[in-house]
Amino acid sequence: MSADLRGKWALITGASRGIGRQLALGLAEQGCHLILHSRDRQHTAALEKELAARNRRGLGLAAELSDQAAVDRLVDQALALSGGLDIVYNNAAIMTPFQNDWLATPAEHYRQSFEVNVITPIRITYRVLPVMRARGWGRIVQVTSGITNEPELMAYAASKAALDKFVRDAAPSLRGSGVLMNLLDPGWLRTDLGGPKAPNSVESVLPGALVPALLDDDTQGRLFRAQDYAG
Ligand SMILES: NC(=O)c1ccc[n+]([C@@H]2O[C@H](COP(=O)([O-])OP(=O)(O)OC[C@H]3O[C@@H](n4cnc5c(N)ncnc54)[C@H](OP(=O)(O)O)[C@@H]3O)[C@@H](O)[C@H]2O)c1
Repeated sequence: MSADLRGKWALITGASRGIGRQLALGLAEQGCHLILHSRDRQHTAALEKELAARNRRGLGLAAELSDQAAVDRLVDQALALSGGLDIVYNNAAIMTPFQNDWLATPAEHYRQSFEVNVITPIRITYRVLPVMRARGWGRIVQVTSGITNEPELMAYAASKAALDKFVRDAAPSLRGSGVLMNLLDPGWLRTDLGGPKAPNSVESVLPGALVPALLDDDTQGRLFRAQDYAG
C-alpha cells in the first residue's frame, strides 16, 4: 500500500533544475501541490507554468540557503502559503570544486558545504516537524549521496555524512508520530552538480525518489536508493 498524496503540500528545495525539478514533476503526478524553492523566482517560473498546464499548483519561493534568516523566511512563507506542509524534500545542496591537491582543501569549502547541506536542512526540519507532528502526518526526505572514496570532494562528502548521522539518530524518535524521516540517494546523475560524465539520466531518479514520500508504514531513518527502482 502506498500513501495517497493527493492534495498534500510539498516543499522541494532546489526545485528549479536537476533532481529537484524531477521531484516536482513526480509529486505533481501523485496529486501534490508544490512549493518550488530556488535562489530566484525566475528559476522556477517555467516549471510553475508546466505544472499549471497539468492542473497542479506550483508556487515559487526564493531563498539563499546559506543565509539562515532567509531560510526562516522561506519556511514561514511556505507554511503560510500551504496552511501546513505535509512533505519536505531537502534536496538543494552545493558541491565545492574538486581539489586535486586535497590536502589543501580550504576550510571555507567545509563551512559553505556544512551551512547549505547540513545546517539548513536540519533547520528546516526543526521548523516543520512540530507542524507535522501536530497534524499526525508528514514525510521528510533528506537527499544524501552515495559518494565514497573521493577525498578531492571531501567537504561535500563529509557534509552528506553529517546529514546521514542526523537522520539515523533523530528518526527513531519519530516512531508512532505519523511523521517519517528517511534518506534518499538519487544515484550519480547528469545534472549541473553531477556533471556530464555521470552514468544515469536525471529522469532515472523517478520513480524511486518518490518511494520515501509514498511510504504508508512507520519506516524511519532508512536509506532509499532511487536507482534500485530505475527501469
Ligand atoms: N547529481 C548527482 O549525481 C547527485 C548524486 C548524489 C546526490 N545528489 C544530491 O541531489 C541533490 C540535488 O542535486 P542536483 O544534481 O539536482 O543539483 P543541481 O542540478 O546543481 O541543482 C541544485 C539546486 O539547488 C539550488 N541551490 C544550489 N545552491 C543553493 C543555495 N546556496 N541556496 C539555495 N538554493 C541553492 C539550485 O537553485 P538555483 O537554480 O537557484 O541555482 C538548484 O535548484 C543534492 O542534494 C545533491 O547533493 C546529486
